[in-house]
Amino acid sequence: MTETFTIAVDGPAAAGKGTIAKALAEHFGFAHLDTGLLYRAVGAKHLLGVDPAKASQTLTAEDLQGDDLRGPEVAQAASKVAVIPEVRAALLSFQRSFACRAGGAVLDGRDIGTVICPQANAKLFVTASPETRADRRFAELAAKGAATSRAQVLADVKERDERDQDRVEAPLKPAEDAIVIDTTELAIDDAIAAAIAVVEPLRVR
Ligand code: C5P
Repeated sequence: MTETFTIAVDGPAAAGKGTIAKALAEHFGFAHLDTGLLYRAVGAKHLLGVDPAKASQTLTAEDLQGDDLRGPEVAQAASKVAVIPEVRAALLSFQRSFACRAGGAVLDGRDIGTVICPQANAKLFVTASPETRADRRFAELAAKGAATSRAQVLADVKERDERDQDRVEAPLKPAEDAIVIDTTELAIDDAIAAAIAVVEPLRVR
């Protein structure tokens, strides 16, 4: 039988969890799902006037394409629709089946280790100080030519953290059995190596 093995990677915006999740998937030959993209796609539709619950129930693979989803406006819209229980419920079963797919899966998001896949084989919580995360996000946006300031990016990061942590349904927090990786002082290669070092021993049990 083909193995199932699930790695949950949670954490706040711009902590490095997406990069770490991708690298883990590549290292172990697993499939990767960026679950934030689902909420971003719903947020983007909501910005166009579609009811968020309806948007979450009718998402298509095509809705997940496009660079537009990566911008700060869509990020804020995503965290606003992510507080709506009907939206979270509509996105649940797709994420759960992805987590259990044969051949292994890495999912990154906010509630993977706590709600989507509490039985995940490995759980990481990737974090960093808000200032460091804002610096990284600002550098990314500036490289794309976006008109924003570091202060604005920091304010956005903090606003999103607060909304994600304070919501009633599936708030952002580490699972009790998650291993925390703080990337504030870590180069990305070292953060990836730390994540692999956490997961590797769990694989050979
Ligand atoms: O990870 P990313 O920054 O793309 O996520 C955008 C927003 O989607 C987050 O701020 C959060 O509100 C929401 N989200 C969530 N649960 C997840 C993934 C993302 O609530 N599993």
